[in-house]
Amino acid sequence: MTPLGADPGIDPARRRDPPTNDSKSETTVTNTQKFTRPLVLAAAAALALPSAMAQAPGKLKVGLMLPATGTFAVIGTAVENGFKLYVAEQGGKLGGREVEFVKVDDESDPSKAVDNVNKLIKRDNVDVLVGSVHSGVAMAMAKSAKDSGTLLIVPNAGADAVTGPMCAVNIFRSSFSNWQPGYAMGQAMAAKGHKTAVTITWKYAAGDEMARGFKEAFEKAGGKVTKELNLPFPNVEFQALLTEIAAAKPDAVFSFFAGGGAVKFVKDYAGAGLKKNIPLYGTGFLTDGTLEAQGADADGVMTTLHYADALNTPRDTAFRLAYVKSYKQQPDVYAVQGYDAAQMLGIGLAAVKGDVGKKAEFAAAVRKATIDSPRGKFTISKSHNPVQDMYLRQVSGKENKVVGVASKALEDPGRGCRM
Ligand code: BEZ
Repeated sequence: MTPLGADPGIDPARRRDPPTNDSKSETTVTNTQKFTRPLVLAAAAALALPSAMAQAPGKLKVGLMLPATGTFAVIGTAVENGFKLYVAEQGGKLGGREVEFVKVDDESDPSKAVDNVNKLIKRDNVDVLVGSVHSGVAMAMAKSAKDSGTLLIVPNAGADAVTGPMCAVNIFRSSFSNWQPGYAMGQAMAAKGHKTAVTITWKYAAGDEMARGFKEAFEKAGGKVTKELNLPFPNVEFQALLTEIAAAKPDAVFSFFAGGGAVKFVKDYAGAGLKKNIPLYGTGFLTDGTLEAQGADADGVMTTLHYADALNTPRDTAFRLAYVKSYKQQPDVYAVQGYDAAQMLGIGLAAVKGDVGKKAEFAAAVRKATIDSPRGKFTISKSHNPVQDMYLRQVSGKENKVVGVASKALEDPGRGCRM
């Protein structure tokens, strides 16, 4: 970029004083020249500096594309809170640059995602995109990020493709791939001795991929998925499907729902009288950030996730205290993922001194880092997805308590990623 006031047509390195008719001009210095030459040289030197050094580093514009309305609205808020908490802990700066935010409510609507992300990239000129919660929205963001070269950190959506076929040097995830918690639950349910299972999810990438990951591990361990049920996102009319589960009589049920939909599903499952005969399992989104509303209907439900409520590590305790102090509520997995998205951004930016254009150096720093997360330390895979422990948790009162580790340092296979 040309510094303000500079003549873009003149290369400072080739700049000369105006030629004169004085044959001695190369060696003779007049009084006027004595006075002006240092100024001219100083100006030329300043112009010769790379623009990033000649100017104070500007603010870092972070484009938050998250749901503020709809069934995932509370998740969007938790991600944003977590991200902002980490930035505040760093004095409002990452990589030496003051952070400012631009926000778009993506409504968890994939059909509006391209327009929304383009507003952030083209209208607002953001340096970094952070989003989103819904897998379909995140895939649209990943495509735009890849095409435009804008740095993207996904703080929730698990769409396998983002760190699979769509992977890129400028795309990272601080959360999970949909395959990860599903696969871990397949292992855990088989280890519990269940032989048959019915899966029930919303019909879109997150539900399809978590159920697929579950089936892969469950059937590898000798189990059988006897029925795969689903309904369109974000529908919550579960009754007909619950009747099908009762008729199928599987050993257990595997499910994926989140946010407001998860609250209703857990309550309807118990209300239909299924809970006492057919144990309900799921990925941890079924009971994370939802327990207040689910009440006793969630008690005993087992899930797999990369976070839990009573980890009781010094790192997690400090995070939880800070979060409660700032937001007057308990954090959940979404808040942790937002916090870690900011940590990852901070690590990359520190390595490139705030210059988001240095993508390869940014990526190299994040890839070799160990991220000190409230969930426990994790690393980033070659396809830029967390390699992390998957906890087996059980709801007890208002907490998702750790029962054990269902899968240690589970790495997404990154199928289709060429990087
Ligand atoms: C997803 O769409 O990827 C998703 C949404 C909420 C919770 C977990 C995953």
